Amino acid sequence: MSALDWQNISKAADIIRNGQLVAVPTETVYGLAGDATNDRAVAKIFEAKGRPSFNPLISHIADLDMAKSLAEFSDLAESLATALWPGPLTLVLPRRQNCPVSKLACAGLDTIALRQPKHPITLALIKSLGRPLAAPSANPSGQISPTIADHVRAGLGSKVDLILDGGPCNIGVESAIVKISGNDVVLLRPGGISREELQKCIGRPISLLEHSQPDGTAIEAPGMLTSHYAPNAKVRLDVITPQEDEAFLAFGDSPLHDHKLNLSPSRDLTEAAANLFSMLHTLDNLCKEKNIHKIAVSPIPKNGLGDAINDRLRRAAATEK
Ligand code: TXA
Ligand code: MG
Repeated sequence: MSALDWQNISKAADIIRNGQLVAVPTETVYGLAGDATNDRAVAKIFEAKGRPSFNPLISHIADLDMAKSLAEFSDLAESLATALWPGPLTLVLPRRQNCPVSKLACAGLDTIALRQPKHPITLALIKSLGRPLAAPSANPSGQISPTIADHVRAGLGSKVDLILDGGPCNIGVESAIVKISGNDVVLLRPGGISREELQKCIGRPISLLEHSQPDGTAIEAPGMLTSHYAPNAKVRLDVITPQEDEAFLAFGDSPLHDHKLNLSPSRDLTEAAANLFSMLHTLDNLCKEKNIHKIAVSPIPKNGLGDAINDRLRRAAATEK
């Protein structure tokens, strides 16, 4: 990291200690970070995002030791963390009794979501603070997640005290969220590590929580609000031949079209995940400019990272809030 990065990290640490907010780069998407142990900082995050307060936040930790001071780790949880951290995996585990993380960050649940991010700037920031950072994706609630600093500036610019620019996020979709309680392992949100990889790691099948509506008491999964990650334009899925008055988000071989971006001409799902939110942002802006009202999207395979991509696209297409 450059001298400038270090200077910014120390400025960011001061801002966070002061209870204010900093947008931070991670390998998945940019996060809107505040001191997870400070109720007022956590409340500011909800307020800045316009986020329903029952939707809990991930606490980002520097290492396994910090994680263990916050949550009860079973052998299974520890083996997943050891194999896959730092990286795009969030573990939902029982909160320790003396866990210092704000109850508001966990929305009053007796579980806590933990992730060790991989981006060196943010890891260094958490290390220098010596306490966890609560950070949801740095976008207004319900809108497309940010994968470059400019997305954060456009969506939340006036509401953050500093944006640490760490370049484009190389994974581009949020972490996979795995809840472990006793022997039960459930994938709450498909994400940057595929279900297949997770299963290989623990040597047994992981069930996927089916999308259901929240009952408002104990939210089980992210983006359980059906409409999420939504652009202003309407999104139409599984389109082979887009209409002329639509923008087109293609995948693989696709017909010529005036307003087209291709997630991955070579049908590479990792490349598609990295491009997803950025291309949705660009097409949404193009729609505004050209007075187009719809984005048509090619079918995306359902294996590997296709799980997470299809999940985000379904929510982007949902109109019901
Ligand atoms: O990749 C990511 O996960 C990004 C980066 C910034 O780390 N963060 C992110 O945060 O996507 P967010 O807040 O947009 O999504 C986190 C989801 C929430 O929607 C919430 O439902 C779920 O994690 N969550 C947090 N705590 C939970 C808990 N105790 N039980 C179940 N789900 C939980
Ligand atoms: Mg989000």
